[in-house]
Amino acid sequence: MRILVLTGAGVSAESGIPTFRGKDGYWRNLDPMKLATPEAFEKNPELVWEWYHERRQRIRDAQPNAAHEAIVKLSIHASDFLLVTQNVDDLHPRAEWEGNRLPKEKMVQIHGDIFLTRCSRCDFTHRQQEHPPTLHSGAAGEQEKIPKCTKCDALMRPGVVWFGEELDPAKIDIVESYLARGACDVVIVAGTTATFGYIVDWALRASGKNGQLIEVNPEKTSLSQFATRVVREPAVIALPRLIDEL
Ligand code: OAD
Repeated sequence: MRILVLTGAGVSAESGIPTFRGKDGYWRNLDPMKLATPEAFEKNPELVWEWYHERRQRIRDAQPNAAHEAIVKLSIHASDFLLVTQNVDDLHPRAEWEGNRLPKEKMVQIHGDIFLTRCSRCDFTHRQQEHPPTLHSGAAGEQEKIPKCTKCDALMRPGVVWFGEELDPAKIDIVESYLARGACDVVIVAGTTATFGYIVDWALRASGKNGQLIEVNPEKTSLSQFATRVVREPAVIALPRLIDEL
């Protein structure tokens, strides 16, 4: 079976990672929708970095859940599988099923990877170490300095896609070539409000005329009207069962 899975923040919710638009998404009374923007970084890079340091720490402390594991299981049983996730956490790549992990080529993190740090000007990128060194204190006090590029001295930023920014064309290519190879038997869209047009577009094109389009989400979304089946349950409950059925 050819299977495409599209996931969003809801899949990591049961691992303790707050969703963006849920009630726990706010940080110090700030709306993540406003913090995850180039404008917020320009205005207050220290604040944006602080938010990302906290999110990185929360993700390091979190464990993949039964939904992440079920997706690994599905990838093993499908003949041609792709996971497209909007999640910048590393819970999909860390999840295991019977000792197996999702191979890199079967997964696209379309909104980037929170553990990557990249230059806001040039192409320099590096991966955050497991235990980051303490950032040096400024002469004026204890305020954390934000990292600077070792190549061009511009401010470094998290390697994620912010609101209003373009997706990485290389990642779009991976999804497009998967779609070009043929229609899917099953498309599962789990834990996302599907607010971005490309998520809905990929789900509809992949399922085509004859494929199943299954939505897993406790709430109704813009995709629900197109789904051939809707499962209104948390992903940790719905996905393992659904994947066993498939
Ligand atoms: P959202 O926070 O918009 O939506 C989370 C979705 O998960 C909602 O539809 C919830 O109903 C659903 N949900 C909550 N708990 C769930 C559970 N236990 N099981 C299943 N579903 C559950 O997150 P995304 O749709 O992922 O982008 O957001 C998409 C993108 O918007 C993010 O990648 C981020 C964001 O702002 C950028 O930063 C560019």
